[in-house]
Amino acid sequence: MGLVETGALVAQAAAAGVGAAAFNVITLEHAEAIVTGAEAAGRPVILQISQNAVRWHGGRIRPVAAAAAAVAEEADVAVSLHLDHVEDRALLEQAADAGFSSVMFDAGALPHDRNIALTADAAARAHGAGMWVEAELGHVGGKPDQPASAHAAGVRTDPGEAADYVGATGVDALAVAVGSSHAMTTRSARLDEGLIERLRAAVTVPLVLHGSSGVPDDELRRAVAAGIVKVNVGTALNIAMTGAVRAALAGDASMVDPRKYLGPARDAIADTVRTLLGVVSAPAGAERRSDA
Ligand code: G3H
Ligand code: ZN
Repeated sequence: MGLVETGALVAQAAAAGVGAAAFNVITLEHAEAIVTGAEAAGRPVILQISQNAVRWHGGRIRPVAAAAAAVAEEADVAVSLHLDHVEDRALLEQAADAGFSSVMFDAGALPHDRNIALTADAAARAHGAGMWVEAELGHVGGKPDQPASAHAAGVRTDPGEAADYVGATGVDALAVAVGSSHAMTTRSARLDEGLIERLRAAVTVPLVLHGSSGVPDDELRRAVAAGIVKVNVGTALNIAMTGAVRAALAGDASMVDPRKYLGPARDAIADTVRTLLGVVSAPAGAERRSDA
């Protein structure tokens, strides 16, 4: 299958009533492992590179994007390339040329009116470059000088405000705050399924869940059944990767060849991806409430 566009991949998942998982890429090994895991699961996948990851690569978007795109092109499953959590409009301007078919513009920490104005402008520019655009909305009802990022724990997205936001900005997908939180190392988040259902009814575009590493499998299944389409996962891969590196190094103090510890790390990421793709790709109705 190889490299496809994120918009088409997400639309196909939405039509099938399943989730489209997006995994964060930091190193080449992440990209290789994510695609290996997706091939093992027989599922499409989104490779997403964050603005923070680009900064970690010295602010250069092209090398890491080119590596991920090359891995995608040779995949046996459909793989797309997404630029995640972009706040810098200069970086946004480089995305299409660097091979990205989609971008998440992140103005969620700004006052609401500023969020709308900047996101509408970013969406128009990104659409002009042929990209699919995701943005996020957390709590909008607060005072303008007290914005609440959708990434913060306890924040919730209001369905009416979400509908207005999508209409005002013209985005193609909406990241919503429904109980997850970024960078959790325990899978203990509880999602508000009722709110997800109300958001799905209120907005016309696919819903995106960020911070999915902290969400247990059953919660993820129910979130997809309730209306989440794009499921973003980052930390879970790094837990798997770092655990494997730590174990390999602890097992042999004389080890110096990075392939000896990055190999197990890549395998661990691939296994995590395969498992999570099985969870979010279950058709609606396959979810069950194990804690009922
Ligand atoms: O945009 C990326 C995701 O929200 C990743 O969140 O690292 O908590 O899984 P996570
Ligand atoms: Zn995120």
